Amino acid sequence: MPERTVVDASLPNAGRIYDYLLGGHHNFEVDRRVAEQVRELLPFLPKMMRLSRWCLQDVARTLTEERGFDIIIDFASGLPTMDHLHTAVAPGTTVIYSDHDPVTVEYGRDILADTPNAYYFEADARRPEELLNRSEVREILGDNRHVAFTYWGVSMYLADEDIAHIARVLYDWSDEKSCLAFYIGVMDPEYPGVAKGIEMYRQWGVEIHFRPLEVFKELIKPWRPDELGYRSMEEWHGIEVAMSEEDLKAFVAGGSGYGVYLIK
Ligand SMILES: C[S@@+](CC[C@H](N)C(=O)[O-])C[C@H]1O[C@@H](n2cnc3c(N)ncnc32)[C@H](O)[C@@H]1O
Repeated sequence: MPERTVVDASLPNAGRIYDYLLGGHHNFEVDRRVAEQVRELLPFLPKMMRLSRWCLQDVARTLTEERGFDIIIDFASGLPTMDHLHTAVAPGTTVIYSDHDPVTVEYGRDILADTPNAYYFEADARRPEELLNRSEVREILGDNRHVAFTYWGVSMYLADEDIAHIARVLYDWSDEKSCLAFYIGVMDPEYPGVAKGIEMYRQWGVEIHFRPLEVFKELIKPWRPDELGYRSMEEWHGIEVAMSEEDLKAFVAGGSGYGVYLIK
């Protein structure tokens, strides 16, 4: 089998599919074909993704401009395109992106080549210790344990035991004022388009996990929400994307999720 590289336009790639659905141009025909299948199943999904990306920009600004963090470590980043973290942080902030998909990482590095203080590493978000223990990351961080972590748009790829593990590792590793910004997808798996989407992913070999918010709150302990609490995307940012009545019905019935700043 030929080695997969950024120039391999024959296989769809999750990062590029996401980029396309966000309106980006870092994608190929094969990605666009799969993306259109996804859009057919869940027509409101691209708008939800757009909203999620706006919320992520709010996270970037809040963590750096308001809360003074100068390092963000992001897990399961996807492509660093379409207003990703580094475009919204305060000047001088270091952003460490990561993804488990080698093609996304290679492409991501290419895109960030001329961007100061932005890095991209291959790492599995289920085992954050892998990224934190990389020699390059240790070199960037030195003894600094005062960081902001972000897990955005990835909870559906994480099993319950992964979330419990992530919570413990990040809690033990970071200093007492560190912060973990998390977005928890809470879609109704019984909603027709959602159920079909889950099945489609299963056929690609990817298991999707949705869980009630109450279950997540237990798994993520000992982290606790800050005073803003768990907020739906609509509360977080307001729905600025133009949604048809049909979109809105699906959005509400299918569910979306909650963002939260977790503290110690
Ligand atoms: C929906 S995108 C989220 C992108 C970005 N975090 C955002 O919110 O816009 C999901 C990304 O998670 C990556 N991913 C899925 N499972 C992962 C894992 N176990 N470790 C690291 N990355 C993962 C995929 O490769 C994909 O690029």
